[in-house]
Amino acid sequence: MRRYAVTTLSDIQCQRSRVVRLGDEEIAVFRLSDGTVRAIENRCPHKGGKLSEGIVCGRYVFCPLHDWKIGLDDGRVQPPDEGCVRTYPVEVDEKTGTVYLLVSERSAMIS
Ligand code: FES
Repeated sequence: MRRYAVTTLSDIQCQRSRVVRLGDEEIAVFRLSDGTVRAIENRCPHKGGKLSEGIVCGRYVFCPLHDWKIGLDDGRVQPPDEGCVRTYPVEVDEKTGTVYLLVSERSAMIS
C-alpha cells in the first residue's frame, strides 16, 4: 500500500466532497459532519450518477440521479436497492489536515 496526499480538510466543505482521480478511476472524498473523511468510487452502480454531487446525510450519500442510498463506510447500496461501490482507506494528518488515500501499488497516478 502507498499513501497519496490528495487534498486537505479545509478544501472539503462539511457534508460535501472533492473529486480526485486514481488512474482512470474517479474517487469522491467526503467530509462528514463528525469531521471524519470517507472515500468511495464516484460512480453509482445503478446508472453511473456522480455520487460526489449527492446529498450527504449522516454516514450515507443519496445519488443525485435516482436517490439510491449508499453507505459511506462500506459502499453498500441500501435496501430495497442492491449493489455496492468501491471504498478506499483514508488517513488524515490531524496536524496539517492533509488527507491521504491508501492505495495498492498498481494504482499509481493520482491527479
Ligand atoms: S444513477 Fe444513482 S440511483 Fe440511478
